[in-house]
Amino acid sequence: MTTENLAQMGAARVVKRVDAAGITVIEKAPVSKVEYAFYHQVAPELHGVEILTPALLAADPSARALTLEAIPYPVSQHNVASDAILSMLARLHRFAPDKKWHYHTHRWPEAQLELSLQLLALPREAADVLRRCQRDSDSLFAEAGLISGDSNAGNWGQRENGEFVLFDWERFSTGHPVIDLAPLIKGMGSPEEYQYLAMRYCRFNRRSENNLAREIALAKAWIVSEVITLLHDRQKADFPHFQGWYRRYLPDWLREVQKII
Ligand SMILES: Nc1ncnc2c1ncn2[C@@H]1O[C@H](COP(=O)(O)OP(=O)(O)O)[C@@H](O)[C@H]1O
Ligand SMILES: [Mg+2]
Repeated sequence: MTTENLAQMGAARVVKRVDAAGITVIEKAPVSKVEYAFYHQVAPELHGVEILTPALLAADPSARALTLEAIPYPVSQHNVASDAILSMLARLHRFAPDKKWHYHTHRWPEAQLELSLQLLALPREAADVLRRCQRDSDSLFAEAGLISGDSNAGNWGQRENGEFVLFDWERFSTGHPVIDLAPLIKGMGSPEEYQYLAMRYCRFNRRSENNLAREIALAKAWIVSEVITLLHDRQKADFPHFQGWYRRYLPDWLREVQKII
């Protein structure tokens, strides 16, 4: 029986194990209230329009534990921006939200920006562009449509029959679709890549392509701030790796995106 902890950025323990019937399952605990409620209230409704999430096999409310269908195959960064995934996300973004559901609160407070700037110690001009991204970020959070809030490749799996399945619903919320589009692009990406992804997404959800491309850049900037402060707060071993990577690539990226934001 495997008891390896698969948890990535999250606070919960995630374990893959074989149950009494010989079936491989995933156990995640303690999950956030948002994720616990998601699998009970929301997932069954989403399945009706083919937004696929792991089957809920058992739950323990006191430990806030979920036992989930194990999705056998990982999805690579290369495959995560496929049409099957873009169209599934578009169906989620168009699905009518219910006021009774539990949502994670996404926002980009100034204090978080300042902590990020302190942790990243960027050159002055780069820091100013990141500040501008934060000042313009309200549009990311003001939209009423549903979002997964964490659509990166590590949160997708593929079933034996080829279906793509999204797990990790801790950041389920309402907000701008670009919050789910930005993670589909490898690394920081470029304005050309944002424009191309926006064009492809618009075949499933009609929006202004230029606005989407700009908002993807803002979402990328916000995610940098989320990742670096979360790794810092949770004292994850990955922190220096991300810090070094961002310090190396952000100055050029910020110079490039300041033309479109
Ligand atoms: N239902 C599942 N099927 C297969 N693998 C899973 C499943 N749920 C989680 N995992 C694996 O465990 C990892 C961590 O789980 P996740 O729910 O994404 O938590 P975290 O908040 O730590 O990112 C995932 O990246 C994935 O590799
Ligand atoms: Mg995850």
